[in-house]
Amino acid sequence: MKFIFSSVITLVRVAVAMSASTVQAVPAPRSLEAGMKLMQARLKTISKQATDTAKNGESARLADEFAQITEATKALIPGEVDRLPASEREIRKDLYESMMDDSANLGLKLAEAFRINDNTKGRRSLKTSS
Ligand code: HEM
Repeated sequence: MKFIFSSVITLVRVAVAMSASTVQAVPAPRSLEAGMKLMQARLKTISKQATDTAKNGESARLADEFAQITEATKALIPGEVDRLPASEREIRKDLYESMMDDSANLGLKLAEAFRINDNTKGRRSLKTSS
């Protein structure tokens, strides 16, 4: 129940972030691995420029994209989950989804920090992700 609730909250927050941002061309991941790569690419750029306040607008946009891609990748359940005994499948799927929710929330937190030019908060959040 708690899991369903937090998923719904994340979904609503990502939807609000999407509608609040301007032109978006976020690629839809075709596979789990592709989604993870798209996520990683954005985090890498954000990390590289996390102290550059002139790039905060771009960092915030990339963080929103990261959250959106993470939310889309959450739907791509790892194949290994399907290969588990039926009794374990649901719990592992829930775990995967809740960890992906945590990652999407990280993206939203980063976007907010860079949008209000709080680079210290942004860098602190990045540290907790690595
Ligand atoms: C900050 C967030 C994350 C980043 C940047 C990230 C990045 C990556 C990258 C780069 C790969 C390798 C993709 C490839 O080249 O094939 C990968 C694979 C994977 N990640 Fe993530 N990941 C993140 C969060 C998560 C979370 C929260 C989970 C699950 C709870 C997860 C589960 C997986 C799985 C299952 C694979 C596939 C491993 C395999 O079978 O090859 N990742 N991730």
